Amino acid sequence: MKVLVVGAGGREHALCWKIAASPLCDKLYCAPGNAGIAQVAECVPIDINDFDGLIALAKDKAVDFVVVGPEGPLVAGLADRLSEQGIKVFGPSRAAAMLEGSKGFLKDLCAKYNIPTAEYGRLADPKSAKSFVRESDMPVVIKADGLAAGKGVVIATTLAEAESTIDEMMVEKSHGEAGISLVIEEFLEGEEVSFFALVDGRNILPLASAQDHKQVGEGETGPNTGGMGAYSPAPVLTPKMQARVMSEIIEPTVRAMADEGQPFRGVLYAGLMITAEGPMLIEYNVRFGDPECQVLCVRLKSDLLPALIATCDGTLDTLDLRWHDDSALSVVMATRGYPGAYRKGSEIRGVDKAEALDDVVVFHAGTKAGPGGWPGGALIATGGRVLNVTATGRTINEAKARAYAAVDLIDWPEGFYRRDIAWRALARHN
Ligand code: AMP
Ligand code: GLY
Repeated sequence: MKVLVVGAGGREHALCWKIAASPLCDKLYCAPGNAGIAQVAECVPIDINDFDGLIALAKDKAVDFVVVGPEGPLVAGLADRLSEQGIKVFGPSRAAAMLEGSKGFLKDLCAKYNIPTAEYGRLADPKSAKSFVRESDMPVVIKADGLAAGKGVVIATTLAEAESTIDEMMVEKSHGEAGISLVIEEFLEGEEVSFFALVDGRNILPLASAQDHKQVGEGETGPNTGGMGAYSPAPVLTPKMQARVMSEIIEPTVRAMADEGQPFRGVLYAGLMITAEGPMLIEYNVRFGDPECQVLCVRLKSDLLPALIATCDGTLDTLDLRWHDDSALSVVMATRGYPGAYRKGSEIRGVDKAEALDDVVVFHAGTKAGPGGWPGGALIATGGRVLNVTATGRTINEAKARAYAAVDLIDWPEGFYRRDIAWRALARHN
């Protein structure tokens, strides 16, 4: 098979790394990819939002199967466009991607089908939004309806903060069109966990749990990022709790989407709060998490490619996946300044030394080869999140020790990282 992966981050590097290892894959392309991905795939410089360019590439190279990494193109209808051209694609239709693309759509679906989630209001103008928060208990959670790169959520602890957030999002349009309508919801208390499942429209194949660290600073301080690290499995999701998540949240959602005439095909990423009453849905994403995908991929023993194909073919009921017993942990190395302004173009050394350690893989999130190519020449940082140093171990502690031993071999003065990835799992263990 010829396979094309769409995306340029650590998630796509992990997907390419697994797919390239599949005996089913003869040739792997990635658009646009990065310096790490170029080690396992042929990178083609086409933007993820250039649908005509991606379709032309798939046709030109006679690609059999396209795997879409990020949510933006899915919500904008890339899977529909590829399907119309007769090209098989992993990733939901535009209509099914609304689970992530519109928080209001998701909340209304949960209400209609009794899926446990925070109480909410859907507000379309600042006046009604403000009267809604005046009637609410603090804190309230204020969410831009549309995609906002993980930055469209504010937890307001006072009424004044809630009102100014409403003005920023709805009047000053701090998140553009994504924030002109809002979801305002009850604040849930508990421990967050992510759960991933492949869904073929009808059948569900559970993958695994993971926990990420959204805030930039150690001890969960500072602004939110795309994720500063992740580990899997997450001990808070016990087998019993996972069974409840499946029967109370995932299965009803999959049935609901089918009943609504918008069957979901792809990977369903549930952001959950484990509360005193049980699991509650915070949000869905319609793609793999980044960096959660990286820890799932190193734990997966089976070939990933047949599972992605079965997701498209509606045959997930015939499939079984095998996992390593090991835990996995990934540390994100980011450019100083991220998630604010930062300077691109610094040189990273020592990735080869880090990768030479046993049970360590360094996925690239934002890199390019300098003059002379890489490896051989220089490796240049081109993004906010730049490397995902990923390790496995018999315990989460062992995976953590290996990952940080690898991080310590990377020489990159312009970078930074959190030293406390997986603290929740370790606190629970101790
Ligand atoms: P989201 O973009 O929906 O994942 O929200 C970002 C983060 O905000 C989540 O990962 C949670 O930490 C937090 N959050 C969102 N909704 C709620 C809620 N209803 N209660 C408590 N925390 C929330
Ligand atoms: N790590 C969070 C996300 O992928 O949305």
